[in-house]
Amino acid sequence: MIKAIYPGTFDPPTNGHLDLIERSSRLFDYVIVAIGEQSTKKPLFSIQERLDMLRELCAPFPNVEVDHFSGLLVHYAREKGVTIIIRGLRAVSDFEYEMQMALMNRKLAPDIETVFLMTSAKWSFLSSSLVKEVALLGGCVKQLVPPLVEKYLKEKRKNEGHQG
Ligand code: COA
Repeated sequence: MIKAIYPGTFDPPTNGHLDLIERSSRLFDYVIVAIGEQSTKKPLFSIQERLDMLRELCAPFPNVEVDHFSGLLVHYAREKGVTIIIRGLRAVSDFEYEMQMALMNRKLAPDIETVFLMTSAKWSFLSSSLVKEVALLGGCVKQLVPPLVEKYLKEKRKNEGHQG
């Protein structure tokens, strides 16, 4: 049984993330989509909101679990009996950062392998930051995120009194 982990900030999940989750669920026996709490980013959505969104979005995939973790990714992976870390590559610009992370993770845990999946071309320009910026300024993100995430973004915009 090959267990993989797909870690990220998921603030919010986009169609690009979902594409990767769907493909990973076909490649591996079991996939844990894990929200990292120790991000240097200042998230718009709380951990609970991101868990709720991801759990609903991953419901169609019976071999996918959604969780969150704090501390080192490799420690969490070991705790869960995971041997594969999945990361997406959107463009050459992702490569340097991803390679640093993969090599550092290998140094910390040589028994855990990072596997890169190429993001589908149609989502290669997408990022959570861009989606948040567009949505909070009143732009349409319909084709970039699942309808559920669009709803959460609209709600945030209303509650936080964003103009635009
Ligand atoms: N399609 C579209 N966009 C994608 C994508 C895809 N397939 N895959 C990633 N992205 C985007 C994300 O939306 C995100 O956009 P943003 O920067 O605007 O928010 C960006 O690419 C990358 O973010 P993400 O994939 O969420 O990862 P991250 O860089 O925020 O890393 C962790 C988060 C949790 C993996 C990392 O911080 C971690 O491992 N933390 C734990 C602590 C640790 O172990 N540190 C040592 C690491 S060596």
